[in-house]
Amino acid sequence: MNIYLLMLLLHFLFMTAAVAAAALVGYAALRLRAAETVAEASRWGAFVEKVKVTFPIASLGLIGSGAYMTYKVWSWSTPWVVAGLAGLIAIMLLGAGVEGGRARATRAELRAAGLSRRARRLLRDPLAWSAKVTTWTLVLAVIFLMTFKPSAGVSAATLVVALVAGVLGAMPFWAGAPAGAGPSTGTSGSGLSR
Ligand code: HEM
Repeated sequence: MNIYLLMLLLHFLFMTAAVAAAALVGYAALRLRAAETVAEASRWGAFVEKVKVTFPIASLGLIGSGAYMTYKVWSWSTPWVVAGLAGLIAIMLLGAGVEGGRARATRAELRAAGLSRRARRLLRDPLAWSAKVTTWTLVLAVIFLMTFKPSAGVSAATLVVALVAGVLGAMPFWAGAPAGAGPSTGTSGSGLSR
């Protein structure tokens, strides 16, 4: 059996799992952002919590299978491998660090005060949305790197373009809190609102 091809297959499977989970979590984040009641927000928040366990598993799987292929055929100084690894580490930091921190703050606010003005602001937080969209653009960038296997300069430029595109692409999600949204707006039926 060709172990290299088996690892490449696993690499694809972990990538598929990560992309599917990212699509589900992205959709849930949009539903959360548009939530009109605490019950609705809590439902989508719980859905995100369930799906997000995929990310550490898929990331470790990508690193493990990628490390095997790198060790066997490529090298740790291959530019697109280094850039791919850096891209994946950035994705993990943005997801677990930035998005995770904001999600915890949002959950705490929803529990304490319902869909308050602060909760609605947190659901549109520029930093959290920039982190989220940047993880998507970084995944696309890493897929490009792995496929085209470019030089060091192009590899670095690809990551920079992904970072800039992520922040620009997130801008439409920053704003748009319903006018006059206050502490008790739209929390009917939740029992959690203030
Ligand atoms: C977001 C994370 C990643 C994604 C989406 C990704 C995606 C891909 C894709 C689509 C391929 C197939 C390319 C082809 O067959 O032409 C591939 C291959 C490969 N990846 Fe990754 N990868 C990721 C992370 C990593 C990491 C962290 C490493 C190194 C530790 C790595 C090392 C490799 C290697 C060595 C190959 C084999 C290339 C070949 O044989 O053609 N990947 N990756």
